Amino acid sequence: MTTPMTTAILSALPEEQSGLLGSLEQPARMAHAGRVFHRGWLHGQPVVLALSGIGKVAAATTASALIERFGATRIVFTGVAGGVGDGVNVGDVVVARSYVQHDMDASPLFARWLVPGYADICLPCDSELSALLSGAASAYLASVSGLFDINSGTTAPRLHHGLMASGDRFINCPEVSNALRTPLLDAGHDVLAVEMEGAAVAQVCLDYGVAFAAMRTISDRADATAHVDFAQFIDTVASRYADHIVRNLLQSLPN
Ligand code: ADE
Repeated sequence: MTTPMTTAILSALPEEQSGLLGSLEQPARMAHAGRVFHRGWLHGQPVVLALSGIGKVAAATTASALIERFGATRIVFTGVAGGVGDGVNVGDVVVARSYVQHDMDASPLFARWLVPGYADICLPCDSELSALLSGAASAYLASVSGLFDINSGTTAPRLHHGLMASGDRFINCPEVSNALRTPLLDAGHDVLAVEMEGAAVAQVCLDYGVAFAAMRTISDRADATAHVDFAQFIDTVASRYADHIVRNLLQSLPN
């Protein structure tokens, strides 16, 4: 009998992890590297749950520990992000195809945004795992879309796929958001959303050859009200999205 693959679910926020933690079968809690990891089973899959920490270095440490110490063979990230792409609105979901580190700049020694030593400025996610995550997100959004009607002034949430950007900065100003997005767009890279961890996890997963996929629910538009929208959104919506989408995904994973 082959050993099943261990799936790590990396959450950005405790609110996103709590529903999964409550359903974990045969739970075992372990402290390591100043973090808490929860091993167990969900929907017949061996899993390890962890919080990423905030920022690229914290997330990279957590990802390395998941792989080295807890034997994770796939990592799935759920969290929230600021929407910067056209039509990427609060309540939408973005599944990453690839990641860029928007605050990496070793030019003129290396191309702008390129992490030296890597083939491309866009760090790719695993296409098969991302397709499964996308299917899981799409099924959840379809199940809630009936709750939205055109007369209420709100629109049903949409699913986007594409490039996400990470950096060690919370973006809450349109000028900063434009200064980040426009040069990338001019170089042919259309960033849909910004957050603070995913690109670091993508980099670690490339180093180890571990499959990586990420989804982010859009909590704000990276503008002047971003911090207010972010806090409200986490309390009300983000945790439900993450919980349902991760459950759908685990049910669809091959062993
Ligand atoms: N995560 C959620 N919203 C964000 C923003 N506006 N900037 C960076 N990270 C975020």
